[in-house]
Amino acid sequence: MCAQVDFHDGVNKGVAPVTYGAGDRPPRGDYARANADYTCDQQWHRYTAADHETYRRLYARQLQQLPGLACDEFIAAVNELGTPDRIPRFEEISERLMPATGWQIVGVPGLIPEEAFFALLAARKFPVTDWIRKPAEFDYVVEPDVFHDLFGHVPLLFNPVFADYMQAYGAGGLKASRLDACELLSRLYWYTVEFGLINTPKGLRAYGAGILSSAGELRHSVTAPGAQRVGFDLKRLMRSRYKIDTYQATYFVIDSFDQLFEATAPDFTPIYAEVRERIAREGEIDAGTVLPHERQYRANTVS
Ligand code: PHE
Ligand code: FE
Repeated sequence: MCAQVDFHDGVNKGVAPVTYGAGDRPPRGDYARANADYTCDQQWHRYTAADHETYRRLYARQLQQLPGLACDEFIAAVNELGTPDRIPRFEEISERLMPATGWQIVGVPGLIPEEAFFALLAARKFPVTDWIRKPAEFDYVVEPDVFHDLFGHVPLLFNPVFADYMQAYGAGGLKASRLDACELLSRLYWYTVEFGLINTPKGLRAYGAGILSSAGELRHSVTAPGAQRVGFDLKRLMRSRYKIDTYQATYFVIDSFDQLFEATAPDFTPIYAEVRERIAREGEIDAGTVLPHERQYRANTVS
């Protein structure tokens, strides 16, 4: 699930939510069968043999790329998703996840309004889209599907520090809604949860779900000489635009999940105010811009 910004009150009334960043098309998915909090049954029996086959091929393609590119915490937990040859049942994953970190997986029909999304995260419930892309979308799907949501996001929910970060993000999102700061906060989600890199003793590794579920960006993000990689800096990050339809031009690099958790623990109320002021004076930072004197991380040599 990617953070989405919309103008809805966050309660499902059976129609697709309004979102921006997703183009003119309404989100796919049947919102009539979802509950008020946008969760729905996975209806596992409705997947076809072709759906399971799509999942199996996506999983196999990503799994073989992980060594040397994905962070160790992700690799250690990816098996918790269960059988790689069919779409897992969400309840089975929750049975393993709940004792590990207190999180559970809940089904959703697709993108949901941000307030509903924040409320679920704050309750340690991770919303997973229940449909899978069509074979023609094997390499690229516009909206997050069950493969992106499960493979990309769920393994790190088995990590206690990252799991706490995700809950804090949800609570912070509810607060940001009241402060009209969702756009600034969504940059944090984008550049960490979706496209974050981590610096390890063995070199750069990916931990962001958008990278880990992408066939091409996984290697690109860690090894491409052309991409910018700068150290995590909350206020700089909140001023930074991002790209939604190409590989990221800039990645933010953390040193540890503890660092990420601690850097985002302070009350954001004054931080939003300061960032807004700075944007008013100096503007936002375009994707791919490196500031004067900003240290860059070197790409890993191809492994
Ligand atoms: N500390 C943030 C606040 O007070 C909440 C938050 C935590 C947001 C972690 C994102 C990630 O608003
Ligand atoms: Fe996502």
